[in-house]
Amino acid sequence: MSSHKYSIGAVILAAGKGTRMFSHKPKVLQELLGEPILRFVYRALDPIIQGGIWTVIGHGAQLVRDAFAEEQRSFVMQEEQLGTGHALQCAWDDIAASGAEFILAINGDTPLVQQSALEKLVAETTAAQADVGFITLTLDEKNAFGRVVRVKGKVNAIVEVKDYDENTFGPEPNEVNAGIYLLKVATVAPLLSRLSNANANGEYYITDIIGLAVTEELHVHGVECGHDTNLMGVNTPAELARSEESLRRQIVESHLERGVHIHAPESVRIGPEVTIEPGAIIHGPCELYGKTAIGAEAVIHSHCWVKNSVLHPACELRNFSHVEQAEIGTGAVAGPYARLRPGAVMEEDARVGNFVEMKKAILRKGAKASHLTYLGDADVGSEANIGAGTITCNYDGINKHRTIIGAKAFIGSNSALVAPVKIGDEALVGAGSVITKDVEDGELAIARGRQKNLRKKRHP
Ligand code: UD1
Ligand code: CA
Repeated sequence: MSSHKYSIGAVILAAGKGTRMFSHKPKVLQELLGEPILRFVYRALDPIIQGGIWTVIGHGAQLVRDAFAEEQRSFVMQEEQLGTGHALQCAWDDIAASGAEFILAINGDTPLVQQSALEKLVAETTAAQADVGFITLTLDEKNAFGRVVRVKGKVNAIVEVKDYDENTFGPEPNEVNAGIYLLKVATVAPLLSRLSNANANGEYYITDIIGLAVTEELHVHGVECGHDTNLMGVNTPAELARSEESLRRQIVESHLERGVHIHAPESVRIGPEVTIEPGAIIHGPCELYGKTAIGAEAVIHSHCWVKNSVLHPACELRNFSHVEQAEIGTGAVAGPYARLRPGAVMEEDARVGNFVEMKKAILRKGAKASHLTYLGDADVGSEANIGAGTITCNYDGINKHRTIIGAKAFIGSNSALVAPVKIGDEALVGAGSVITKDVEDGELAIARGRQKNLRKKRHP
């Protein structure tokens, strides 16, 4: 059964401190493969929620808002973190006012949750015509998960570990609560004000809704998802590392299956938004993050770090290169030890060799900077050759200035080009020059002390 028949609003509970992370950052901003936990939750919810998504924030609220400033998200403040049930109360009126029939409530610390699990929750809960549905896991290691108490097979309550008393609830079950719920607005609303904080933590628990619903003879349905590790929350650095590793493996596997060549796959880290065409070749260890796109037959050698960059087909990134917000054209070669900073563009067949740094600079088709060079705020014409040790002096201490170098120009080694400056097409700059004035097309510029050879005094 598909979810679009019902109007569903969602609430992400993300206000908690995350005390067990030992970090200043709010837990939902902790990252897996370079993306914050909360972004993963949005990614699972966005395709299936038409009724709006509200995120309850509190601890580090401004940091969370800032991290998602470009995404037009709806936030609800929970000033004091009085528990997951209280967090739900904070958002309830906004969601109900939107006209949603159901509210999907999800813990914000569940980054690996898949859209398919949420669809299963919606499909099973609505098919059973239940008022309350929630996802359960069946685990040998139950850790701190809330225990699902069933009576004659029917869900009776969720009991938190600290409150679990075998005399009352019987032997501990292996079935636990994943922290993802579907609540029917009309029938669950009256239960909200009845949540109490008379428990071991002194908190209002969202999980108490289940027991209250059973008492009111509402229909409660546990959606069993076995031991799906994607549904386990992240509470500690160790759990974060485990989730990240599991995600890493899933992503690498999916690229391998689609025809990407990955050597030493166990040491390759690829972010969830990276796209790679089949036939590209990647050697681990290697890190590819953000919205990086890699074309077919591109080769990335080991020990490279790439973020938000475009690597066109058949380009080559040699070992130990660092590339951020840059573009490497078809057939272009960069590295080893290249540093391409934001705004670095290498057009087709351009070359950058070892210890070359580029920032806001373009090397046009076939241009080369093979060794030990800094190109900042520069435009280098096609097939120009930048000699070893060339520096564009782009910063005068206050402002940045541009250096323009024409097609087929030749810049001799160890030249300093003091911007703003323009070197014409096919111009030649003598080695060791400090260029402060424009050089016209075809001119030869030499700007260095003339060599004098003097006879040594005491030489016979
Ligand atoms: C919760 C469940 C537990 C379940 C587990 C699954 C409760 C009481 N227990 O426990 O049954 O097995 O998740 O992972 O719900 N939050 C707020 N405001 C608050 C408190 C928490 O927004 O006042 C948010 C947190 O930021 C977090 C989520 O709610 O994202 C869950 O809180 P957490 O403290 O991690 O609950 P668990 O102890 O994991
Ligand atoms: Ca948790």
